[in-house]
Amino acid sequence: MLEVNNIDTFYGKAQALWDVSLRVDEAEIVALIGANGAGKTTLLNTVCGLLPPASGSVEFLGQRIDGLAPHSIVELGISHIPEGRRLFPHMSVSENLEMGAYVHEAWKRKEETLRQVYEMFPILQERQGQLARTLSGGEQQMVAMGRGLMSRPRLCMFDEPSYGLAPLLVAEIFRIIQGLRDHGITILLVEQSVRQSLEIADRAYVLENGRIVLEGDGKSLLKEELIKKAYLGL
Ligand SMILES: Nc1ncnc2c1ncn2[C@@H]1O[C@H](COP(=O)(O)OP(=O)(O)OP(=O)(O)O)[C@@H](O)[C@H]1O
Ligand SMILES: [Mg+2]
Repeated sequence: MLEVNNIDTFYGKAQALWDVSLRVDEAEIVALIGANGAGKTTLLNTVCGLLPPASGSVEFLGQRIDGLAPHSIVELGISHIPEGRRLFPHMSVSENLEMGAYVHEAWKRKEETLRQVYEMFPILQERQGQLARTLSGGEQQMVAMGRGLMSRPRLCMFDEPSYGLAPLLVAEIFRIIQGLRDHGITILLVEQSVRQSLEIADRAYVLENGRIVLEGDGKSLLKEELIKKAYLGL
């Protein structure tokens, strides 16, 4: 479904990704793990069109998307749920959700999609009129996820959705992500909760200093020495 081929990405003269290749097949959960500053966010930003790669290519459903504008990439079916949630703090829950439907096809079906999002996150329906800034961290993350679903994506890219949440909520977020995959949505998941993401991932990649250093299926990576030492503290 998604194919990233040998990309190099720069911030000005500073290179952040080096010859990175990665693939996500339909209905998979693929985890991308790595330390702070490894380049995980940079990779998601490259895929969603915010940071065009200097070389290499990105293909989605057989079509080249590197060089397309971010809104065109959303229109094709990729949704990016960014690091830090980025809600509109002075807008209500329902207004924040509607902002996610600002692409042509999704806008026509926004009432239907909104009902589906409320079914998935009943707490958001209860709080639909409340300003986003007054929500708890977990509720804000649910709004960010719901907003990402409003464009009716085929592929969702989550950037650290469990960041800063209490353990029970972290488990809830992982459960929701598995539920999305069971509904046929493909997932590219960036996470610091390495153990939990490898447990739900079909496959995973490890990024170090802007390069992919390891890949494999989730369960076998959990047993890798490098992962145990560097990410699981064993
Ligand atoms: N806007 C920017 N301008 C210049 N350099 C940047 C910018 N954003 C990130 N970088 C650099 O690119 C590298 C990769 O950063 P990136 O944010 O992709 O890492 P990350 O893996 O997402 O880290 P974290 O886990 O902390 O979110 C880092 O060295 C970082 O300093
Ligand atoms: Mg990041």
